[in-house]
Amino acid sequence: MAESMQGLKRSHRCTEVSRSMVGTEITVMGWVQKSRNKGGIIFVDLRDRSGILQLIFEESQCGTECFEKATRLRSEYVIAVTGTVRLREGAVNENLLTGDIELIANSLRILSEAETPPFPIEENSKTKEELRLKYRYLDLRRPDLQRNLMMKSRVATLARQFMAEEGFLEIETPMLTKSTPEGARDYLVPSRVHPGTFYALPQSPQIFKQLLMCSGYDRYFQIARCFRDEDLRADRQPEFTQMDMELSFVDVEDVIDVNERLLAKLFQDILGVCIQLPIRRMTWQEAMDRFGSDKPDLRFGMELTDISEIVKNCGFGVFTGALANGGTVRGINAKGQGAMPRKKIDALVEFAKTYGARGLAYIAIAEDGTYKSSFAKFMTEDEMIRVMEALDGRPGDLLLFAADKNKVVWDTLGALRCHLAEMMGLIDPDRFEFVWITEFPLLEWSEEQNRYTAMHHPFTMPMEEDLALIDTDPGKVRAKAYDIVLNGNEIGGGSVRIHQNDIQEKMFECLGFTKEQAYERFGFLLDAFKYGVPPHAGLAYGLDRLVMIMAKQESIRDVIAFPKVKDASCLMTNAPDIVDDSQLEELGICLADQNSEERQI
Ligand code: AMO
Ligand code: AMP
Repeated sequence: MAESMQGLKRSHRCTEVSRSMVGTEITVMGWVQKSRNKGGIIFVDLRDRSGILQLIFEESQCGTECFEKATRLRSEYVIAVTGTVRLREGAVNENLLTGDIELIANSLRILSEAETPPFPIEENSKTKEELRLKYRYLDLRRPDLQRNLMMKSRVATLARQFMAEEGFLEIETPMLTKSTPEGARDYLVPSRVHPGTFYALPQSPQIFKQLLMCSGYDRYFQIARCFRDEDLRADRQPEFTQMDMELSFVDVEDVIDVNERLLAKLFQDILGVCIQLPIRRMTWQEAMDRFGSDKPDLRFGMELTDISEIVKNCGFGVFTGALANGGTVRGINAKGQGAMPRKKIDALVEFAKTYGARGLAYIAIAEDGTYKSSFAKFMTEDEMIRVMEALDGRPGDLLLFAADKNKVVWDTLGALRCHLAEMMGLIDPDRFEFVWITEFPLLEWSEEQNRYTAMHHPFTMPMEEDLALIDTDPGKVRAKAYDIVLNGNEIGGGSVRIHQNDIQEKMFECLGFTKEQAYERFGFLLDAFKYGVPPHAGLAYGLDRLVMIMAKQESIRDVIAFPKVKDASCLMTNAPDIVDDSQLEELGICLADQNSEERQI
């Protein structure tokens, strides 16, 4: 039967017990990791969120009743044990923080018994993620997940402290609101009081934080939940957390300054890693040209080289065709991969195709300087030599080329570069390479919608020197927007905002909104600006992503307590779920087509 606390108090967590406490009586509480009965002596590994402590039950020490009780202990029982700390009598366990001590028990309470869990509670679990997510409350007992969530809590606490010291106010913004402008699909919540109308859950606090600037709060900060109905990936969840900020009377430099100091503090205090300030910066154009990505991983080289000029008159139709279509031909050099078997090169071509490339041309240079190439027969010897020279191709190297529209070439080679670096073991997992990406294009052309869309969001300020281009060549206008990138991940982004009505109107015009449509969606913000608005700028981090990298995890799910799977459902609660007809009726909702298909994982 489960016993209760009855005045018993925990004195320490497992790993708070140390050598200096030998001889002291203490009380610890936690879960039985494992229990071994060696005849007259029972060894129990007790686990709590701090780690493991070895407990010893000996009949001579704890009495017959307690010893009998201890023989019943099984994995995951919850117990309270009072005992005396002593140096380990058996071999010291170097792998445990408490490996040189143990607790010789005087008394035991079984606070709760436990059924055998569906999978072992252990570090680096081999259990399939679907099963672990179904029993997430057990999965969350695993030390690796506990460490991740503890780190996330520390990041949030330190960030709050830092921001408060810098004069930021923590202010909440609504969850039930109107559509916010981050460009993903909204999650909608039906209104009961106003049948037929819906709230949207915020994709970010963007509009509200700008309104707070209008209201004079001057420095705002919030750890805010955001909701975006978009395709999920390893670094994306439908609900996620932003560390969000906005500042008045500032420009790009001020936002970058406070954020560099914040990042330096977080990395120093949590990881003991010193970030060299200032963090390097790169314009969007440079990042794309050199790395094929606006979130370049700078832990390795393998930069892109544009060979359009060299091949513009060559006989290879793939290259000249791409150039004739306004595209480019670029390549990367996978150093030392010249002997890669054909099969593996074919796999790289298939990989490239998933990024929209129609193929991948290559030159494999052998150690003796001879080479094999998929396109040599269309080229002159001189052209081949110039291409190899341009990429610094040496004996033993594999050169890979993509020819297409810029976007396809960048996407393909940008992804291939990372893929190869992983394959070739070029990535040092202990390095943290930050870079600010600046001067993003303000607008990007959407083939789908046949109009420009805002690359960041419609309130982002164009660069002053490009203002004149808004009417003549909107695609060329650069924005006062910046992303902070870490090891190839966009961990945060922000911009200086438009605070002048005429520029904002122009922006909406470029985006294809009529004045009425703009007012319909964002009228309250535009109105607010009429009553005195300070110049303002801000930034938001994806907190989950930041912690994912700090904790060296592959998936954002490993730093979120209760994450969703790919189809945005929760395997533990079974959300989203059907609701009672009466609830629908109350909301004035009639379902067009009730779909009772099995859920996809
Ligand atoms: P943005 O849309 O770039 O900017 O979002 C800021 C940061 O949030 C993280 N992020 C996500 N993390 C997990 N899952 C997702 N689905 C997801 N989507 C975004 C990214 C990203 O850098 N209001 C602006 C910020 C501003 O201008 O101040 C905004 O939301 O790490
Ligand atoms: P093909 O003429 O289609 O047989 O292609 C000849 C070689 O060029 C093959 O190695 C293809 O993989 C490669 N290739 C095809 N399209 C492209 C492209 N857009 N960019 C680079 N290489 C390509």
